[in-house]
Amino acid sequence: MIRFSKVGYILATAGSAIGLGAIWKFPYMTGQNGGMAFVFVFTLAFLLFGISVFIVEIFFGRASRQNAISTFASLAPKNMGFLKFGGWMIFSGVLIFSFYVVVLGWLLHYLFLVIAGGLPKSLEAAEVLWVEFIGGEIPYQLLWHFVIVALCAYILSKGVKKGIERLNFILMPLLLLIFIGLLGYSMFQDSFKQSFEFLFTPDFSKLNAKVIVEAIGQAFFSLSLGVGVILTYSNSIPKEGNFIRYTIIIALLNFIFCLIAGLVVFTFIFGYGAEPSSGPGLVFISLPLIFANMGVSGDIIAFLFFVALIFAGITSAVSMLEPFNAYLMEAFHWSRKKTNFFSIGISYVLGVFALFSNTALMSEALSFFDKNLFGWFDYITSSFMLPLAGVFMCIYMGWILKKDKVYAMSGGYLKGIYFQSWYFTIRFIAPIGIIVAMINLI
Ligand code: TRP
Repeated sequence: MIRFSKVGYILATAGSAIGLGAIWKFPYMTGQNGGMAFVFVFTLAFLLFGISVFIVEIFFGRASRQNAISTFASLAPKNMGFLKFGGWMIFSGVLIFSFYVVVLGWLLHYLFLVIAGGLPKSLEAAEVLWVEFIGGEIPYQLLWHFVIVALCAYILSKGVKKGIERLNFILMPLLLLIFIGLLGYSMFQDSFKQSFEFLFTPDFSKLNAKVIVEAIGQAFFSLSLGVGVILTYSNSIPKEGNFIRYTIIIALLNFIFCLIAGLVVFTFIFGYGAEPSSGPGLVFISLPLIFANMGVSGDIIAFLFFVALIFAGITSAVSMLEPFNAYLMEAFHWSRKKTNFFSIGISYVLGVFALFSNTALMSEALSFFDKNLFGWFDYITSSFMLPLAGVFMCIYMGWILKKDKVYAMSGGYLKGIYFQSWYFTIRFIAPIGIIVAMINLI
C-alpha cells in the first residue's frame, strides 16, 4: 500500500485528475457533440455526479484501507459477498491506459516537431501532417508509444512516482499559466466570440441521449472516477486534513482547465475555418497553428506547453494502473516489479492494437461497426464502464450500507446539510440520472 502525506495525497490525486482528459478529450468531445449542449450537461454532471462520486470513492478507500476488490468484499453485509464483483472496475484502468499512452506518444512526436522546427503554419499543412502521421507513420508512432510506456514502467518500478508528482507541482502551474496566456491571446482573435458562443450560448437543440451519456462519461473520465484510483489513493489518506476541501479545489482546477482548453482550441478552429467535429485529432490540428503563428516566442511556448502537457498526462497514466496493481500485489503477494511488468505488458499489447487501428494499413481490419479499436476503448470505458461503476458505488454506499455507518465513514468532514445533500445525490440523483440517460440511448 502506498503511504501518503497530506501534500503527497493532493499531488497524486491532482496529478491523476488533470491530464489529457481536460486538454485533449474535452475539446474534441465538445466539438463532436455540438458545443454548448455538451458543455452544459458536462458541467452539471461534473459538479453534481463527479464530486459526489469522488467523495464516495474517498469514503470507501478510507474505510477499508484495501484494494478495490477487497474493499467491496470486506464492507459487504452478510450474504452479499457478490458485491466484490464491482471491483472488476479496476480493469477499465488497464483499457484506458492502453489508449491514453498512445495519445501521449502523439504528443511526444509533436514535441519533437517543435524542436525540429517542423510545426505546420497553415490549416492545410496541419491537417495533412496529422492525417499522414496518424494514418501512415507507423514506425514513429510505435517508437513514441514504446518510449512513453517504458517511461511509465520506469516511474512505477523505481518508486520515483513521488518525484514525478513533485515535478508536477512546478509543471502544472506552468501549464495553467501558459493556458491563461493562450486564453488572453485568443481573446484578441476575431474568432474568440464565435468560440465563446459555441461553448456557452444556450442552444438545447443539440441535446440528445448520446450527448448526455458522453458528457457524463467525460465528467467521470476527467476526474479519474470509476476505476478505483481515488479509492486506492484514499487507502492511506492521513487522518487529519480536510480532504473534501482538497477534492473540491482539485475538481474546480480541472474544470477550469477544461473550459480554457475549449475556448482556446475553438478560437483557432473557427479562426482557420477548420471542422470542430474532427475527433481525436482536433487538438493536434489546432494547437500547432496557434504556436506557429506566434513567431519565435511561439516555439518556446510550444516547447514548454508540450513538455508540461506530457508530464500532466504521465502522472495521470501512472495512476490508472494503480488499482489493478494494488489488487495483484495484495491478492497474489506479487512483487511490485512483477505486477508492473504484468499490467504494463497487457496494456502495451492492447495499446499497439489501438495504435494500428488508426492507421490506413489496418484500420479496416481493426474497425467494428462505426468505430475503430482505439475509438471503442475510449468510448466504452468513458461512456459506460466508468459511469456504471459510479452507479454501483452510489447504490452500494447509499442503499446497502446503513446511513449511520456511512456517516461514520465521513469522519466528520461532511456534516449537516452538506452530508444530507450529498447523501441524497448518491442515493437518487446520480444513479437515476445516469441509468435514465443510458436507457434513452437504446
Ligand atoms: N483523469 C485523467 C485525465 O483527465 C485520466 C485518468 C487518470 C483516468 N486516471 C483515471 C480516467 C482513471 C479514468 C479513470 O486525463
